Amino acid sequence: MADMYITILINDHSIIEKTLVIAERQIEREKINWNVVQTLVEILWNYGELCHNAKEEKIYFPLLLENGMPPMGPVAVMLQEHEAERNYLNQIKKIISQTEKTAEEIKSLRIIFREYSALTKEHIWKENDILYPMGKNFIKPTDEAYLVTQFKMIEQETVGLGGYERFKTLVDALEKESGERIDLLASLPTELINNILDSLPIELTFVDANDRVRYFNKLDKEKIFTRSLSAIGRTVQQCHPPKSIHLVNKIIEEMKAGKRDKATFWIHFNGMYLFIAYYAVRNEKGEYQGVVELVQDVNPYRALEGEKRLLDEE
Ligand SMILES: [Fe+2]
Ligand SMILES: [Fe+2]
Repeated sequence: MADMYITILINDHSIIEKTLVIAERQIEREKINWNVVQTLVEILWNYGELCHNAKEEKIYFPLLLENGMPPMGPVAVMLQEHEAERNYLNQIKKIISQTEKTAEEIKSLRIIFREYSALTKEHIWKENDILYPMGKNFIKPTDEAYLVTQFKMIEQETVGLGGYERFKTLVDALEKESGERIDLLASLPTELINNILDSLPIELTFVDANDRVRYFNKLDKEKIFTRSLSAIGRTVQQCHPPKSIHLVNKIIEEMKAGKRDKATFWIHFNGMYLFIAYYAVRNEKGEYQGVVELVQDVNPYRALEGEKRLLDEE
């Protein structure tokens, strides 16, 4: 697979980023669970430092330089940042290894961790968005298999075979256990979430597990299918034309029974070519929480061919 070596590095970053976020929140708590912090810092050291950074320092960076990337360019900066990460982590490990921690030490741990986390997140962003894409110019197709094999070897030497899968499972479990589930929407005001959903060229309707309409986007905007506030709280069966009601019931029944996750249709309507889809919404346990209906005029996409990479006046 092309760019598999980049996928490996970016997947490593996801583990590191998730661990950072969970640890950051845990450390800011009034009552810190030190066992959780200990495990998270071990993940950052064993996986982030010993395994991931070694893939870059021992294999990827040297190959970039060998293939002509200037030594004083981005690689030098990345190496400096790895060094800074190590320094921070060593300070962090030192504080958390003490059985009795003074208030002063906890305070300085919080400051150090914030700095470490900010540096590492920035570093990951630079690699994902700048260095890796730029580095592609210095990686020959024949180098790709070499990189993947070497990355696997480093993983095996540092964290053992299947290390990535194990660490990923561990971080996901910690995220759940510590009640620190990462919720990106929680930080956004509802007005912004509404505007995001309204900015898309699609119509969305959400019907909850009791078949009641709870949400639709573009409330005050022009829509393909008229929907007004009075639809909210009504059952989906009350909102659909009688001739399609048996279909709606069948889809919802099958979704509730766990036999179906989506249903799609396409129809001609008022000069448009509508793609209409129903997607089951489920929680982590797979329990049915409702269904989202998506309506989109796909006419503009049907004629697409080749590529369009330039910006036009739209
Ligand atoms: Fe790095
Ligand atoms: Fe990295």
